[in-house]
Amino acid sequence: MKLILFLTVAGFCGHALCQQDDTYFWMSYLRSYWLGYSRFADPSPQRAQGRDCPLECECPPNFPIAMYCDSRKLKHVPFVPSRMKYAYLQNNRITFIQEGVFDNATGLVWIMLHRNQLTDEKIGENVFAKIINLERLYLDQNNLTVIPSPFQDPTNAFEGMENLTRSLKGLQSLTLLDLSNNYLKKLPEQLPGQLHQLYLEFNSINTIPNEYFRKLPKLQFARLSNNNLTDEGVPSNAFNVSSLIELDLSYNKLQKIPPVNSNLENLYLHANQIKEFSLGSFCKVVDIMNFSRLRVLRLDGNSIPLSALPPETALCLRLAAVIDL
Ligand SMILES: *[C@@H]1O[C@H](CO)[C@@H](O)[C@H](O)[C@H]1NC(C)=O
Ligand SMILES: *[C@@H]1O[C@H](CO)[C@@H](O)[C@H](O)[C@H]1NC(C)=O
Ligand SMILES: *[C@@H]1O[C@H](CO)[C@@H](O)[C@H](O)[C@H]1NC(C)=O
Ligand SMILES: *[C@@H]1O[C@H](CO)[C@@H](O)[C@H](O)[C@H]1NC(C)=O
Ligand SMILES: *[C@@H]1O[C@H](CO)[C@@H](O)[C@H](O)[C@H]1NC(C)=O
Ligand SMILES: *[C@@H]1O[C@H](CO)[C@@H](O)[C@H](O)[C@H]1NC(C)=O
Repeated sequence: MKLILFLTVAGFCGHALCQQDDTYFWMSYLRSYWLGYSRFADPSPQRAQGRDCPLECECPPNFPIAMYCDSRKLKHVPFVPSRMKYAYLQNNRITFIQEGVFDNATGLVWIMLHRNQLTDEKIGENVFAKIINLERLYLDQNNLTVIPSPFQDPTNAFEGMENLTRSLKGLQSLTLLDLSNNYLKKLPEQLPGQLHQLYLEFNSINTIPNEYFRKLPKLQFARLSNNNLTDEGVPSNAFNVSSLIELDLSYNKLQKIPPVNSNLENLYLHANQIKEFSLGSFCKVVDIMNFSRLRVLRLDGNSIPLSALPPETALCLRLAAVIDL
């Protein structure tokens, strides 16, 4: 079965398609393939799609709540018809989002905008105002940045981010926000309180505001790997939040293990500059009743001597199946 599928896909090679070395492209291609619909049907595809479908997109008749506008060099976001729940806009050349494009599609639950060239100042402050049911927003691999322009007041770090922050704030159903692979130096100031997953890896974030994660009481998965975090930029209890299950802080510049909540199950701290193993970061008290729920702890790529592990480690980290030093 796998082989047949592979050959089917490989059969398209030689056409312009294969130059788009892009996994998302193939994912969405395969999705439309499984749905019994190929947008590549040539030369006169049966465009049996609703009249409301934007010309530059495909709206498969047998999946009437999805709009495929990905991988077609678009520079703008087409108007999204009201019936849509899924908008695939990734892998284009979109640099801005006009006000109003999402306003009719109040039922939208997913918007894929990754792999574009969006900058924060070009995201109108009300673009997401009407789509209060949105659950997932993918903005990764864009040009979002808060690097202050010469015209901005450098003392107001959030200034360049105002629009993005304001436009995200109203998304009260949002559970997943992917802002990874951008040029962010700061965290977005106010995020929707329902977030479960926040992805910020591969940015240049160097500080975490005080109490930042306490304002996200549902947050379970936080990824901040490959940023510029230092001990100075991280308030002491920044990550001691009881909702967190997974925290990725790998590839930063931390020198200490930050205190984490005993509910945390996966902690990635590899490739930092940690020199000491502080058991107190996991367990303030160690006894029969008080222990850490950590199952995976990665500390490799630091300079912690094995001898640094105190004997109580086994009691505190009694559930840990993997500890990489
Ligand atoms: C938005 O929805 C309204 C009401 O359903 C409709 O009249 C209008 O034509 C829609 N706008 C666009 C641009 O499709
Ligand atoms: C986005 O970043 C890429 C790579 O750095 C650059 O080539 C492109 O011009 C940028 N686009 C915008 C709109 O800033
Ligand atoms: C916010 O967006 C508007 C367009 O909606 C733009 O004119 C303005 O410059 C943006 N402001 C900032 C601070 O980016
Ligand atoms: C990380 O921070 C240092 C200063 O602490 C700075 O020199 C460097 O440019 C930053 N790196 C990035 C990728 O922002
Ligand atoms: C985390 O915070 C709680 C209070 O919310 C505190 O009891 C606990 O000792 C803290 N954990 C660490 C490792 O500092
Ligand atoms: C230790 O565990 C007991 C029982 O679960 C709890 O009441 C107590 O608050 C814990 N102590 C600390 C410091 O977490």
